[in-house]
Amino acid sequence: MLQHRSTQSGVAPISASVETMKILVTGGTGYIGSHTVLSLQEAGHDVVVLDNLVNSSEESLRRVSELTGKTAAFHKVDLVDEPAVEAVFDQHQIDAVIHFAGLKAVGESVQEPLAYYYNNIVGTLNLLRAMDKHNVRSIVFSSSATVYGEHNPIPYIEKMEIGANNPYGRTKEQIEDILSDLGNADDRWHIALLRYFNPVGAHPSGRIGEDPQGIPNNLVPFIAQVAVGRREKLMVFGGDYDTPDGTAQRDYIHVVDLADGHVAALNYIAGRPGVRRWNLGSGRGSSVLEVLRSFEKAVGQPIPYEITGRRAGDLPAFWADASSALADLGWSTTKNVDQMCEDHWRWQKNNPYGYNAAEPAAAGNAQASGA
Ligand code: WQD
Repeated sequence: MLQHRSTQSGVAPISASVETMKILVTGGTGYIGSHTVLSLQEAGHDVVVLDNLVNSSEESLRRVSELTGKTAAFHKVDLVDEPAVEAVFDQHQIDAVIHFAGLKAVGESVQEPLAYYYNNIVGTLNLLRAMDKHNVRSIVFSSSATVYGEHNPIPYIEKMEIGANNPYGRTKEQIEDILSDLGNADDRWHIALLRYFNPVGAHPSGRIGEDPQGIPNNLVPFIAQVAVGRREKLMVFGGDYDTPDGTAQRDYIHVVDLADGHVAALNYIAGRPGVRRWNLGSGRGSSVLEVLRSFEKAVGQPIPYEITGRRAGDLPAFWADASSALADLGWSTTKNVDQMCEDHWRWQKNNPYGYNAAEPAAAGNAQASGA
């Protein structure tokens, strides 16, 4: 739900509606995408979703429709299929694009860099070429705090030099460069680069949420699966960092706050050509153990865990300087870690296997049966 956050900055409230626009959301059936579709519809916009469903389920859109009473047009399209991308723009009068679609697992990107560069970069180029051809030149891009790399002091500030240290992060950085060059070459483009910190939580209805395929890489979905009985215990990656409790600190942000940040950015660039970048974070760090305790409070019972060795590539701590988004967009986070955990748990408790009604059959079983 969009709330007025911006009185203190004098900027028009986020929910100050611009005229109804038709927004194309790539990756709109995913975790952040589906929450953003909901925020866009609540703000009065029409939505078209393009997604290849490689990491998500169309069920998320059906549930968003339940919640908003509005239906987004859906196209099962892969961005690397340029003619199919063009066809979506032929079919709809798109006013602006919010671009989430892409592969996003850091560890996987190290194993499969070619798949990451092909999908994320070529897919984005196809999208931008189709936009340009159809005179659609407003885009909000889903970037990531991972572009800050491992050498910047905290809190991270938008003007800092960036330098990701993994292929996934480098695709985000290169897409930022592509969009910056495009905006600098052609002032008809309106571009927002949003650098997320750690999105967690779920819509308070408990009907949509994070549904990772396979073993979750990220902390909170893993904790949630332990709490619901799908995993034995949480492995805490490192208890010997130079932090108050020895576990690593991150800037967690509620996914509904994050989604609202996209609507605020869309409103901001509507009348402003050029390229701008904003951190979307709370500006505060929370440790692994602090998050675990919050989740235990939400569940009402202890969650088993074991402190093990550090995970390769992890940083001890990082969080955002979130002042630019407040000053420019009138946007700041409204929910704390306890609320994130309460909402995440409600989603997980009500949907133990995510959007699958029952436990998905393990691939191995299918092979074993000689299928
Ligand atoms: C958070 C903390 C782990 C799992 C990643 C990507 C980033 C962005 C968000 C896309 C770390 C610890 C985790 C577990 C643990 N994704 N942890 N046990 O690594 O900060 O960021 O996701 O944009 O690009 O890098 O998030 O949730 O994986 O880890 O102890 O089972 O939790 O070591 O300290 P991360 P995370």
